[in-house]
Amino acid sequence: MDLQRLFRRFLGRNKEQHFEDDEQYQDLIIGDEILTGVRECSQRFEAMKPLLDRYQRTFTTLDIGANMGYFSFRIAKEYPAVAVMIESRSNDGLLARACDLNRANVVWLRCRITAEELEKLAKVEHFDVLLVMNFLHHLGDKWRLAWEAALRMADHVLVETPTDVGACGQQYLSEINTEVERNASHILGTFARHTGKGHSMLYHIVSESQKKLIRPYWVLPKDKAFRDSRVMGQHDLRINSNFSEKALIHGDRGQQPPWVPGINSMTYRALGGAYPRAETIRTWASKLPSGPDMNLWNLILSGDGLSVIDQHGNHESLLWDYLP
Ligand SMILES: C[S@@+](CC[C@H](N)C(=O)[O-])C[C@H]1O[C@@H](n2cnc3c(N)ncnc32)[C@H](O)[C@@H]1O
Repeated sequence: MDLQRLFRRFLGRNKEQHFEDDEQYQDLIIGDEILTGVRECSQRFEAMKPLLDRYQRTFTTLDIGANMGYFSFRIAKEYPAVAVMIESRSNDGLLARACDLNRANVVWLRCRITAEELEKLAKVEHFDVLLVMNFLHHLGDKWRLAWEAALRMADHVLVETPTDVGACGQQYLSEINTEVERNASHILGTFARHTGKGHSMLYHIVSESQKKLIRPYWVLPKDKAFRDSRVMGQHDLRINSNFSEKALIHGDRGQQPPWVPGINSMTYRALGGAYPRAETIRTWASKLPSGPDMNLWNLILSGDGLSVIDQHGNHESLLWDYLP
């Protein structure tokens, strides 16, 4: 496939014109081909690999500000992993097309996420590895809220923040880097920047700060379940995780079956899920067995299917009301 042609077809103009107003930051991977972006990516990925190599089970990553999805596509292609991306821009449809063509186990949440939403996310999801790369400074003075939420939502947090004068969010760079460095367990590498002569560090934080879900899933105010006090109240849902196993320990029911990689389908719906596409999810849902508690909040979504969890309840099935 000629990537340059695909790129032009999607943008309706040539690559150089595109760069004038909207740079292609990361390398774009489609199949075995790569369209090079302005920021070097492969060395940064090499620096993450020793951590990813340690997993002896299927794991879940979240890449916040995923851009062209370089890291998520490589993780999903090279590891037994579900790679979830949050990225607000679609790059004129190119990221959606890359999701289709790469056939990798990725989930894309297309939203301009706020620090407050990241706080909510940390209450309902727990990731194995979180990528917060060149993202925090985009949140302005809310970066600290997002940073604290990031530490609660994953076992391993990888953070990179620019240092150079050409980057945006200048007034926050030094305080972000100081705070991240203070928490860092390791430095995985030092990398050249495309916006100036400076270098940035890729920090690895081993985070044990929460290890539990505060709520079982994300409800929106319009949901019937929003008014349900069981859902909104505190839950005792502890997480036991390491490189070889992960399980949820329920306050009443004890240890649950092994953790299902992916995200709760309610999270997908709340945060603008764009891939897998809604019609694909509906097709998967139509093939599930029927049951009394067959609800969207009991379905874990990955890039290649839906898995049913937690069939203990005896609630009315509202699946078709809630599907995207
Ligand atoms: C500088 S790029 C970094 C890309 C990638 N993380 C890396 O380090 O190679 C920042 C990316 O974050 C995205 N972004 C910024 N703020 C965002 C937000 N609040 N929600 C979702 N995406 C965001 C931008 O669209 C852009 O693609």
